[in-house]
Amino acid sequence: MKDIKQSIDDLRNKINHHNRLYYTDAAPEISDFEYDTLYRELQNLEAKYPEYLTPDSPTMRVGGAPLTSFEHITHSVPMMSLDNTYTYDEIRDLDTQLRKISGGRPFTYILEPKVDGVAFSLRYENGVLVSAGTRGDGIRGDNVTANVRTIKSIPLRIETTASVVEVRGEVFMSKKEFLAFTEKQTAEGKEPFKNPRNATAGSLKQLDSRVVATRPLDAVLYGSGELDGITFETHEQFLKQLKAWGLPTAERFWTCATIDDVIRDIKELESRRHDFPFEIDGAVVKVNELELHDIMGSTAKSPRWAKAFKYPPEQAETVVHDITVQVGRTGVLTPVAELEPIFLSGSEIRRATLHNAEQIKEKDIRIGDHVLIEKAGEVIPAVVSVLKNKRSGSETEFKMPANCPACGEPATRRAGEVALRCENLQCPAQSVRLLRHFASRNCLDIEALGNIVAEKLVERNLVKSPLDLFKLKLNDLAVLNLGTEKDPRIFGEKNAAKLLEAVDRARTMPLDRWLFALGIPRIGKTVARQIALVHKDLFSIPQSTILNQLLEFIETQSEITEKIKERTKNKSGGNEAEKSEDLFQLNRALQQAAKPLVDLELLKESTKKNNIKNLEKSYVTSGVGPEAAKTLIAFFGSKRGQAVLEQLKNLGINPTSAAASAGSALAGKTFVLTGSLTAMTRDQAGDAIRAQGGSVTGSVTGKTTYLVAGANTGAKKTEKAQSLGVEIIDEEDLIKMLAIENPPQPPPQVKPKKRQPQMTLF
Ligand code: IVH
Repeated sequence: MKDIKQSIDDLRNKINHHNRLYYTDAAPEISDFEYDTLYRELQNLEAKYPEYLTPDSPTMRVGGAPLTSFEHITHSVPMMSLDNTYTYDEIRDLDTQLRKISGGRPFTYILEPKVDGVAFSLRYENGVLVSAGTRGDGIRGDNVTANVRTIKSIPLRIETTASVVEVRGEVFMSKKEFLAFTEKQTAEGKEPFKNPRNATAGSLKQLDSRVVATRPLDAVLYGSGELDGITFETHEQFLKQLKAWGLPTAERFWTCATIDDVIRDIKELESRRHDFPFEIDGAVVKVNELELHDIMGSTAKSPRWAKAFKYPPEQAETVVHDITVQVGRTGVLTPVAELEPIFLSGSEIRRATLHNAEQIKEKDIRIGDHVLIEKAGEVIPAVVSVLKNKRSGSETEFKMPANCPACGEPATRRAGEVALRCENLQCPAQSVRLLRHFASRNCLDIEALGNIVAEKLVERNLVKSPLDLFKLKLNDLAVLNLGTEKDPRIFGEKNAAKLLEAVDRARTMPLDRWLFALGIPRIGKTVARQIALVHKDLFSIPQSTILNQLLEFIETQSEITEKIKERTKNKSGGNEAEKSEDLFQLNRALQQAAKPLVDLELLKESTKKNNIKNLEKSYVTSGVGPEAAKTLIAFFGSKRGQAVLEQLKNLGINPTSAAASAGSALAGKTFVLTGSLTAMTRDQAGDAIRAQGGSVTGSVTGKTTYLVAGANTGAKKTEKAQSLGVEIIDEEDLIKMLAIENPPQPPPQVKPKKRQPQMTLF
């Protein structure tokens, strides 16, 4: 047992060491794979020996059950704020004042970046992180321990003999991570956070720490609260100790002997403000000698020994030449201001996001306007305000387009979303989304093709449209970099081979899956299935007589309806007997035209009474509506559809209907599945029935051929079947009927718990 504990401790130490190298020192020594192996080994041991589980284990960062509200935390030493200034004169005044108070004792200054994040405090007791709190009103803040534990750069344990170490700093989201996070939020149709600070505050306020664990938060520490069992002489010494403990600190600070040095370094820091991973809104000057802090004291809100010098926000004036609309890879339409190019915060800016129509309206941004732009917290250029006094009257208002600018399909808004979207998977701007759809479980089930792989394949131009997957070469795929240039993550030969195997399997997937996979507007899973039931293969669809018949029928039905309406209007003229003979003839013609389509279950008689005056409602489509039929025929007639057919032909792929290839032993038979089945799920049974030409409906009617009664079937359904003379069979009968020797295995009842994300490189 001792050995196990020792192994667990060793693993924890190793992982903590590598965490620190990776997150704090940015100098990893092992690969992700090696790290994951250590991590899993620890997880396994902890699962097997839960008695050794401790809250400071590196596996304990994944977040826990959501809270209903935050508890309060009382700061043993109040969290103060800083006095601000925008002028060098006031910095000199500070020096004069402090020299006076210190009574001639010499002292130096430390200059640090002022991190634009969310202030927080960490408390370590005997080296173990016990709590984390926000500043709140300075005395009491929110207990955000569970959320802060998910920040990987914060050690859960530090090596110290001190009984209490309270350290303070800022939680932040790096500029780089913020951009990626914003892109993700936008792609999901959510209103993105305006700047990294808001994203950080919003994340820390989450009650569900598992959500926080997915947010790329980081932290910087620069101050202390309660300390027991450890003292420091200077702030510099304290900062060095923070670093030695593996706590994250700013990568640079300046030690200044005089106030002139302070001013010089404030300027240097300003020129370097874009070099830091986090946003900086100023510089903080602190007296270095700690014994002087007590002497200098503090005002009600802030200490006298420190001051913040705020940098002015970087803004610039420019002109909006145009407003264009960008279609994101997930279909979100974003208005973008096309600007007169201008230099700001270290780079040239030509475009600024306007987020959505509401924001344009709120700020009243028009084409031709002079505007002030700012890098929203330095990162994304945004229009701050319009200089309305510079308007000439020739500015024009902007309206979001009704259709997607990339493909022309109507733009729509999903319930609860602010963004307008193009939902057309065939939209050329949405290659990644179409690719993901193509590979998804209900389509061609290419599991190895996850989000990142899909994105990178498109980004690296290896795949433009899904069918390009069939041309991928193992060598190209194996070296695919899923990370960035700086942080490469290579896909690898094993994964590449797995992906190619799945792609190869997709060649022989049945027609319904292929039809759905192609992402044709209006062709969903059910419609695809019905179309596949009445066609033998994909190449028979472009000239489908059945679909054309269906469209013709609908047209005829409405023509006849028109005629009938006219005749009944013309009450006066004509002989009544003749009229009713005519109607009778029309009705007969309609029935005849409908017959083959009813047999194929593409049409069904309306449940409304088949009244001769109501002919237009006699037949309704079942599943494949006229719009779907039209779009499908139009797709295969379009340039894009033709290209798809041509590519499939060249690849030797012609998806065939499962019903056609498996025979149609169950053609014309309608099943109702009820109760629970044991050898397969109801979905699987349904698929198997349809594969043999049968159909499955939800309720027992006169048209039902069999009621398949599984375990615990309710009496109501069986009674109804009996009263209608419908044959009742059990699962075994069904299996025999399907002639399946090895029925598909149902998935396990309880899904294995998915491993929480760990050490993913952002
Ligand atoms: S020292 C007792 N150092 O800016 C005062 N604060 O606007 C302790 N801040 O309240 C604060 N970077 O939340 C200090 N290097 C830094 C800082 C910093 C950012 C925040 C802090 C403070 C606020 C004042």
